[in-house]
Amino acid sequence: MRAITEFMANHHRCCDGLLVAVEQAVVSGAWERARTEFARFQDAMRHHFTAEESLLFPLFEQSTGMYRGPTQVMRGEHGQMRQLLAGVASALDARDGEDYAGSVETLLIMMQQHNIKEENVLYPMCDQHLADQVDALLPGLQSQIAGEERVPT
Ligand SMILES: [Fe+2]
Repeated sequence: MRAITEFMANHHRCCDGLLVAVEQAVVSGAWERARTEFARFQDAMRHHFTAEESLLFPLFEQSTGMYRGPTQVMRGEHGQMRQLLAGVASALDARDGEDYAGSVETLLIMMQQHNIKEENVLYPMCDQHLADQVDALLPGLQSQIAGEERVPT
């Protein structure tokens, strides 16, 4: 069973798609639309990070006893990506195409490297170690990713 890997990797693809919509708007010079699309993308990324940091990673850490392993690295990268997201947002606010292009490229490279590590290493480890909890875990991840405030049980 690779239920966690499939679910989380699928949401990575969703986020990628939302960023493509931002890119298309910028290329068309539609700055207002770009900001709207970016807000959707940023929300999806934030919810994804929150689902991992508040739910998936703590369960992984408790099940494996690995508190300073891969989840620590991923949390650090989330912090870097939050900063990069803020940089892209201010470039869009300023309608600065050059600043936007530079900061979005840095973000994209970081996202790709981060997602590969999660999809090839961390999520499969989660599937392995959390197999008996997956039925309870998936609805919780789903509601976090959807941005619902409900605390998962
Ligand atoms: Fe992550």
